[in-house]
Amino acid sequence: MALHQSVFKDEAKLDINYVPRRLPHREKEHRLLMEFFNFLLKFPERMTQRVIITGEVGTGKTALAQRFGVDITLEANKRGVNFRYVHINCREYRGKLFLILQRAMSVFRPNFPKRGYSAEEALETLMQSLDEENAYMVLALDEFDTLIEQEGSEAVYKLTRLQEMRRGKPQRISLVSILRDLKSTERLDDSARSTLQRNVIRLERYPKGQLADILNDRVAMAFEPSTVPEDVIDLVAELAVSESGNARFAIELLWRAGKYADSEDLDEVEPECVRKAVSSIIPTVRRSELTSLGFHEKLFLLGAARVFKGSQKTYASLSEIENGYAVVCEEVGEQPHSHTQLWKYVQLFSALGILKAEVVATGTRGRSTRVSLPSIPAYELEKELSAALEKR
Ligand SMILES: Nc1ncnc2c1ncn2[C@@H]1O[C@H](COP(=O)(O)OP(=O)(O)OP(=O)(O)O)[C@@H](O)[C@H]1O
Ligand SMILES: [Mg+2]
Repeated sequence: MALHQSVFKDEAKLDINYVPRRLPHREKEHRLLMEFFNFLLKFPERMTQRVIITGEVGTGKTALAQRFGVDITLEANKRGVNFRYVHINCREYRGKLFLILQRAMSVFRPNFPKRGYSAEEALETLMQSLDEENAYMVLALDEFDTLIEQEGSEAVYKLTRLQEMRRGKPQRISLVSILRDLKSTERLDDSARSTLQRNVIRLERYPKGQLADILNDRVAMAFEPSTVPEDVIDLVAELAVSESGNARFAIELLWRAGKYADSEDLDEVEPECVRKAVSSIIPTVRRSELTSLGFHEKLFLLGAARVFKGSQKTYASLSEIENGYAVVCEEVGEQPHSHTQLWKYVQLFSALGILKAEVVATGTRGRSTRVSLPSIPAYELEKELSAALEKR
């Protein structure tokens, strides 16, 4: 038996910690960050910078900061500036300033004692090390809200005041604070807040088209050629939009769908793989919802499930679904309901989040309705419905 080829070429490119070289649709923000630090590279001792990156879950805050970190370090090295970008997730250190600073210190002094020091002392030692090495640091504090929660305004003062007390000496530490919601800075007092919020970079939710671009990039890196059809990318992007434009969700879904394709020895990732992947992340079939449906509603949905199960396509036309329903009706000896009635069923199932119906332009002939089954595996839906119908 021939060994089955995986659809993956390099799964690591779908790892949540992988930072791609290019971040589609964040080019502008990346350029802006580089601009902010440009002056600093020219005259490093003269100034430091403070930037906030904010945006909802999965909008690329961490990835943007890390990409920037790599790029700014390269740029600094070219100019002979000893520059360190240190990315710290504050939540991993329970929002404790001392632990966070100790982590930053470990760049220079891996053996700095873990106990017996205050945050101020850690910060002073850090400054000393930077002076000794004539180095400059960008401290990227990810999930910064946990630090605010834990330590409040005092932490911000400590981070910024030390430099201000060193008048005449070179400035050393710049801050990039990363947080989902600026609201969490409302807990800070006015002066701490204004110290921080000089430059705010806001990342908006990714709309569907942008998610598709991000996915296409990853597909090219992670999958074998022609294993992920355009429609499937479309479906994944669509689902990620309903998860508030979360790119992490999109990438994870794509990876899981690939895993399902491999486990079934498929040559490509099929829409059914995506549905299985979604239902493994979010349980979508609510059995009670299915059993409470009317008889013909069940027949209609069963017809739809069979259409999707029997085809590799993501979308079906309304008439294909109607035909599927007609076949089911014939099997059980029922007279099919009218087209108008079926249209109501489609709307009902859209409202329940089971089917999705969109009106699309079709060439020159006008418009038609295309239907998809975004998040429930067709085989599962068929099984549940058959069981519900048998009980009757
Ligand atoms: N523009 C983009 N191009 C390519 N990949 C992206 C882009 N934006 C985000 N990603 C990827 O999506 C995933 C989530 O992004 P990231 O971790 O940066 O989100 P975040 O805004 O930090 O979310 P959270 O608020 O949950 O921390 C990562 O794997 C990241 O590489
Ligand atoms: Mg993040």
